[in-house]
Amino acid sequence: TGCFTYDPGFTSTASCESKITYIDGDKGVLLYRGYPIDQLAENTTFLETAYLLLYGELPTKEQYDAFTVRITRHTMLHEQMNRFFSGFRRDAHPMAIMVGIVGALSAFYHDSLNIRDPWQREMASIRMIAKMPTIAAMAYKYSIGQPFIYPKNDLDYSANFMRMCFAVPCEDYPIDPVLTRAMRRIFILHADHEQNASTSTVRLAGSSGANPFACISAGIACLWGPAHGGANEAALMMLEEIGSVDRIPEYVKRAKDKDDPFRLMGFGHRVYKNYDPRAKIMQKTCHEVLGAVGLKDDPILKVAMELEKIALSDEYFIEKKLYPNIDFYSGITLKALGFPTEMFTVLFALARTVGWIAQWKEMVEDPSQRIGRPRQLYTGATERPFVPMGDR
Ligand code: CMC
Repeated sequence: TGCFTYDPGFTSTASCESKITYIDGDKGVLLYRGYPIDQLAENTTFLETAYLLLYGELPTKEQYDAFTVRITRHTMLHEQMNRFFSGFRRDAHPMAIMVGIVGALSAFYHDSLNIRDPWQREMASIRMIAKMPTIAAMAYKYSIGQPFIYPKNDLDYSANFMRMCFAVPCEDYPIDPVLTRAMRRIFILHADHEQNASTSTVRLAGSSGANPFACISAGIACLWGPAHGGANEAALMMLEEIGSVDRIPEYVKRAKDKDDPFRLMGFGHRVYKNYDPRAKIMQKTCHEVLGAVGLKDDPILKVAMELEKIALSDEYFIEKKLYPNIDFYSGITLKALGFPTEMFTVLFALARTVGWIAQWKEMVEDPSQRIGRPRQLYTGATERPFVPMGDR
């Protein structure tokens, strides 16, 4: 009953109006504020793209410099928060730590919780973008038992993050331009993707007036799932399990078998029914990184390339329009950059924070905004009288 449409998985329901990101899934187009993703990935720094997503235009030199200063002033975590990490088990998944620490920011930064105050909204946005690399790197360092490395603010966002992850005290950490560029591209490619599950989670949480740190923490929790942000980890594990080119047909057969729940991880997308434009850039970046670290002949890369070739010429995948998505090559690349698989989704969360914040701001600043409240098709019992426990 009632005049609403049943749309499981929201495949045909627009939940909001947005000016941030445009996707044409049939043509394989992705634009941030009108700019093609490949041009941004090739020509901008991460903070330039972040500025674009947040404020709607690419920054002038003055705007960019001022934004960079604003961000770098907030890269440190409160020292008391540093001790928060030791409450987690050493073998905790870093995403579990991220959910906890980011949510806990609400308990530390009381001057950025009032979402009706534009200054506080701006402070929360800047703080989130500035602190995410620090928190992510600390989650990593904690898991391997190494001391935290503090941010170095004269470095670019991506180089600073890699240094916080991989440097050790009292030793120089040389910045590798090829690896830093790859990191920057990965961050830009993941920065936003319109109303995906985690972004919709952030918007829905935010629609009740919840504070931004709590909303981003909800987004991180949603992103953690293997059908969303966890797919790059799953894709790499699948490629490693396949192991060699001769085993590919066996896995392709399983993926096509209706009675087998196995899917080719890193393939298919709810919106892209063509090659994911991010996957193209990711594939190129993957080759560059593997070349730079001397893994050009990595057997896993060979499996990936061959699997892509076989799947793209297979009738099942053609008919269902299943193409490689961004996660297909990002796992191999991140591994070659030196990250363990548990960190993959953390890096996705770090980059997507910019999109989440931009989408959250857009929603909060929209005067027509109402609390998100989907309806349901009730399929339970009809009304019946209460039965006392002794009579059941
Ligand atoms: N391997 C084999 N068959 C597949 C695959 C796959 N990877 N993906 C979809 N299919 C089949 C599916 O079995 C279904 O067949 P049928 O119509 O006969 O029942 C059909 O294609 C449509 O699939 P769906 O599950 O209804 O499509 P969806 O839009 O609900 O799901 C998806 C999209 C991404 C969850 C799904 O393609 C999938 O599970 N892919 C593997 C996981 C993955 O790579 N996820 C990363 C997504 S990109 C990163 C992000 O944006 O978060």
